[in-house]
Amino acid sequence: MPDLGMFPRSAWRRVYETTLTGMVDAVLDYGDPTGAPRLRAELASYLGRVRGARVEAGAVVVTTGAAQGFAVLAAALRASGASTIGFEEPGSYGVRGHLESHGLKLVPVPVDGDGLDVAALERTGAPAVFVTPAHQFPSGVVLAPARRAALVEWARRTGGLIVEDDYDAEFRYDRDPVGCLQGVAPDAVAYIGSVSKALAPALRLGWLAVPEKWREAVVERKAWADLGGPVLEQLAFAELLAGGGYDRHLRRTRLEHRRRRDALVAALRLHLPGLRISGVAAGLHLVVELPDDVDDEALAERARAAGLGPLPLSRMRLTGGGPPGLVIGYAANPPGELETAVSVLAALVAASHAPRR
Ligand SMILES: Cc1ncc(COP(=O)(O)O)c(C=O)c1O
Repeated sequence: MPDLGMFPRSAWRRVYETTLTGMVDAVLDYGDPTGAPRLRAELASYLGRVRGARVEAGAVVVTTGAAQGFAVLAAALRASGASTIGFEEPGSYGVRGHLESHGLKLVPVPVDGDGLDVAALERTGAPAVFVTPAHQFPSGVVLAPARRAALVEWARRTGGLIVEDDYDAEFRYDRDPVGCLQGVAPDAVAYIGSVSKALAPALRLGWLAVPEKWREAVVERKAWADLGGPVLEQLAFAELLAGGGYDRHLRRTRLEHRRRRDALVAALRLHLPGLRISGVAAGLHLVVELPDDVDDEALAERARAAGLGPLPLSRMRLTGGGPPGLVIGYAANPPGELETAVSVLAALVAASHAPRR
């Protein structure tokens, strides 16, 4: 979760007012179900500039969040005869729910220190795969260059579809983020993003760009889903992008997230020395690996009772079990709160070791 208190209220008020003042009445009619043309143009340019995406304005589909991107893609895949999709193991518990609820069976594909194991994907025979290449959720690893090349090669050779969720790519703290996979293989990648981690989930604003051969099916499903998303929000966001307000907001939040991540890492090193923190310095969360004898579900439950909200790593695996860990979000809390939370967590971890026999 982002810090909802950091939502740029003044900037949003200005762009919303500009939108309401300047728009013609026809804007209030049913519009293009794939989104307001102005936002699609702004997004194509933003995604090219910031994420290295290669997408024409006409190929952008504005969605009501990444969630709708998953829904229309899953429906298009099902209509093409696909019933399975390769899924990162560990992977996002939330995304798994979306894809399963739209009728796809998820096939686990292991993630190691280089990201998704492409050879293992090949062995599953799945016709599509869900990936988070820039910052894998939850492990935080970046898909290594050789794996990126292998994944694209797999897609081109088999006709498989790569579903790229670029969910928190604006937030990398140690260097510039790697460009999106879509930029190197627009013919093989369905690209999904949203403003949920950067502005607020409540805006329900996201985007989807798919290879040409999937376009008709996706656009048709988007149209039948809702005849298009809320246009005033789309135009206000276009205005924010055009005026540089989104970039400014990202710069501000990136600095603050980094401060919060550093504070969390320092508190973990102080109160829980010896536990490994996995993943690169990016995003809104990190993973702490726990000793093998700790039940992470039970620990997360006790943490919840103490007012904290870490998620157990084992819940992120389709096959269950595996090395225990905690997924900890840091973007929504200032450094002082993170430090206090870690001291509470450390006491719970100390009490969580299995009794010695
Ligand atoms: C990794 C990941 N990406 C995207 C989403 C959905 O985000 P949005 O608010 O854009 O629908 C979720 C949550 O379901 C998620 O876990």
